[in-house]
Amino acid sequence: MQIPNHIAFIMDGNGRWATSRLLPRNAGHSEGVKALKRVINGCMKYGVKVISLYAFSSENWKRPEKEVKELFRLLKTFFTRDLLHLCNKPFRVNYMGDIDALPSDVKEGMIKCMRDTADVEEYVVNIGINYGGRDEICRAVNKMISAGIDHVDEQTLSSYLDTAGLPDPDVIVRTAGEMRVSNFMLYQLAYSEFIFLDKYWPDMKEDDVNTIIEEYNTRHRKFGAL
Ligand code: IPE
Ligand code: IPE
Ligand code: MG
Repeated sequence: MQIPNHIAFIMDGNGRWATSRLLPRNAGHSEGVKALKRVINGCMKYGVKVISLYAFSSENWKRPEKEVKELFRLLKTFFTRDLLHLCNKPFRVNYMGDIDALPSDVKEGMIKCMRDTADVEEYVVNIGINYGGRDEICRAVNKMISAGIDHVDEQTLSSYLDTAGLPDPDVIVRTAGEMRVSNFMLYQLAYSEFIFLDKYWPDMKEDDVNTIIEEYNTRHRKFGAL
């Protein structure tokens, strides 16, 4: 079995999971956090070195204020209480997204996780929060302009993205039957394999990582060659 180096997840369907049970949408987000822990543990069990998770997009601000507030409340608890105790393997926490625009308590929790894990090399949990692929590329371009760079190649641009130093995702998984990218890792997904699962994100179990890896092993990656 070939184990992907990097699996990226577009965690979708929290709202539908809840409404199908006549629960408020926010109940789906709390269950979504539990699924997040199961999936991270599953990936670590199989030795997947980098796990990316799309938690809040730069477009999710369009949602009702009450839902946005609850999402940030859950994320803050996740960062301050749960993230660093998720599994027995040490991992480094990385973020992608414009974190300056986040509520200050959420941002502080995130920065603390990042600092506390900065020295870990082997495993990385990379979280997209206030993240949009287009916004990431624009921020990278502006950083390069500020640095006085006047010629850009692929390597330079990659090194200014929020994923600098991380390998591109081998697999992008989206749950809840939706088959679109929704502004996720637009630059990095050039040769990613896509896996779409019908289940809602809160229904994800550790074992689903096995299904993903099995499906990945049926794919023939060619990178433009024969
Ligand atoms: C994913 O679930 C969580 C976020 C985007 C924050 P959704 O909230 O998008 O769930 P659906 O798509 O409405 O079911
Ligand atoms: C993508 O899901 C964003 C996250 C998973 C954080 P959305 O539910 O926001 O995407 P659309 O609106 O269905 O494209
Ligand atoms: Mg959705």
